[in-house]
Amino acid sequence: MIVVRSCDGGVLKVDGFRVRIFERLSLPPVRYRLKAIKEAGWNTFLLKADDVFIDLLTDSGVNAMSDRQLAAMMSAQDAYAGSRTYYEFLNAVEGVLGFKYVLPVHQGRAAEHVISKAFVKDGSVVPMNYHFTTTKAHIELAGGKVIEVPVKEALDRRSRYPFKGNVDIERLEEVLKAYRDRVAFVRIEAVANLLGGQPVSMKNVAEVRELCDRFRVPLIIDGSMIDWNVYFIKEREAGYGSKSLEDILREFVSYADVFYMSARKAPAVRGGFIATNNKGYYDRMVVHIPVYEGFLTYGGMSIREIAALSVGLREMVDENLVGSELELIKYIVEKLDNRGIPVVLPPGGLGVHVDAAEFLNHLPRNAYPAGALAAALYIASGVRAMERGTLSMDRDKDGREVYPDLELVRLAFPRRTYLKSHADYVVDRLTWLYRHRDLIGGLKWVHEPPILRFFLGRLEDIGNWGEELLMAYLRELGEY
Ligand code: F0G
Repeated sequence: MIVVRSCDGGVLKVDGFRVRIFERLSLPPVRYRLKAIKEAGWNTFLLKADDVFIDLLTDSGVNAMSDRQLAAMMSAQDAYAGSRTYYEFLNAVEGVLGFKYVLPVHQGRAAEHVISKAFVKDGSVVPMNYHFTTTKAHIELAGGKVIEVPVKEALDRRSRYPFKGNVDIERLEEVLKAYRDRVAFVRIEAVANLLGGQPVSMKNVAEVRELCDRFRVPLIIDGSMIDWNVYFIKEREAGYGSKSLEDILREFVSYADVFYMSARKAPAVRGGFIATNNKGYYDRMVVHIPVYEGFLTYGGMSIREIAALSVGLREMVDENLVGSELELIKYIVEKLDNRGIPVVLPPGGLGVHVDAAEFLNHLPRNAYPAGALAAALYIASGVRAMERGTLSMDRDKDGREVYPDLELVRLAFPRRTYLKSHADYVVDRLTWLYRHRDLIGGLKWVHEPPILRFFLGRLEDIGNWGEELLMAYLRELGEY
């Protein structure tokens, strides 16, 4: 954002880019939307993108790319091995993040796979601020267990604590003491996705580093959304307001022994990588790249994406470009909060997070309130959000439901993609749904996959409530 002083006092934040390529959107009528969500098994992952008006499923792989990224793709050098584009990529990683050794992979979960193979064994534990779905799956598949140590404010959606992604230092120390040799590594996710896109402070990462040194365990940072974490440090942490995004980023990642990211997020491409300055860790991981990803100089990514990634890494700390969607998220969250609609506070990164357990407090958790609300939102608006609650957890090994701390519906805002009129529409339709929340019932399984069930699972509405919601909509708002 370009930040200037306003003539009325205060500051104005103005987007430091303009849009020169656009994609036409269309809004399917409400009857069609009900039919589409039924065909998709009440799972927004299974909707066709053409049936979606405003796609807020994720920011992953759908951020707007820059003219410079597209230009770089055209001059990428395609070679199976040793491409010039790969060496330029190494330079970009070292220039922006300060790491010498780099392992390209096809996306973020591939990095988690390789890291888990290299560091996790049967009986290992991995303490972290909070899990992400794919991270947990890979650690468990390698025989390890995740132990979450978030600060207590993180689980209270009303708390406006500015760094709800922080690790509870005392609890981390207890875990490190209790498990000693079994700790594979400590992981920090910046920003913490499933806590509602909440950031980690510089002070906190420094304290975690100190503990890791004391207990001699590596610190691994998942920086898939590091651009947003850095923006929040600049905005919220004392002493960082006048530092550049570039310097804040460098300082933050300097605490990591190993850094990885899904490049589908902050750098706005499709891919991922792992980076480190520790040759021993590099050697432990590199053997897995040719087996699971591809040759070391492309790691499963298209060489064109690698070219765009090098540019994306630099744009990730460009003061003019970062923060546009964060301002949009803040705008929506404050409006919803003013209307009494339960949202995670303070406004974070990634998206608007609605507390579905509170929104639909007449539903039990095993009727999947977040799944039901995401489906109802699609019916009432054509907006596609993502369930981030009970459905996004898998059952335990005895087949019992595992209830996460937060039952959220996430409306993710891809970088530099949507406009204020879209934000106003989202607020309007969520408000309408909130007024009619008693019409929304639960969901039950039709087909439940055993692992990462939220991706491909199929459900249906208990008691046919979709039809009632449709009737109310037609009566009050018409065909659209
Ligand atoms: N780590 C974090 C913090 C993530 O948010 C994601 C993906 C991954 C790892 C895995 O990366 O998708 O490239 O394999 N998050 C996406 C989301 C899917 O919608 O939040 P991936």
